[in-house]
Amino acid sequence: MTDVKWYAGADHAGRRLKDRLVEHLRALGDQVEDLGTGGDDSVDYPDFAALVGARVAAGDGLGLLVCGTGTGMAIAANKVAGVRAAVATDAYSAALSRSHNDANVLALGERVVGIGVAESAVDAFRGTAFEGGRHARRVAKITALERRRPDDD
Ligand code: RB5
Repeated sequence: MTDVKWYAGADHAGRRLKDRLVEHLRALGDQVEDLGTGGDDSVDYPDFAALVGARVAAGDGLGLLVCGTGTGMAIAANKVAGVRAAVATDAYSAALSRSHNDANVLALGERVVGIGVAESAVDAFRGTAFEGGRHARRVAKITALERRRPDDD
């Protein structure tokens, strides 16, 4: 995949891995907008998930979110309509999140994966396309859930 645009974000628990992965993506030639955090002060991961999620939902870029486990970032980012965030702990999961789920945000946990596994997951995510077909029908059903109201049956 060429000319990939990324939006990256992290909390204090994921900042170091996020910085390494931003460097990695830029070395591959990708354009990365780093939306923070940039320091070690304790911050709230939903704030960065919201920033990245809004940019991904508004355009055609991919998102990279890193916290301690990836879980909080994915939960928060998936509240933004149009975002399909996937937590991955390996390259296979990252690739399938693209090919089957059309994920547009990759969430990683600095306390879970090392830099090598994280880079391989990012590489798999950026290098895998959505397969469409039967998967498009299923992703459309996910999108329909965004429009459901609590009293819909
Ligand atoms: C921060 O301590 C931690 O809770 C956060 O980075 C993340 O792992 C939440 O899902």
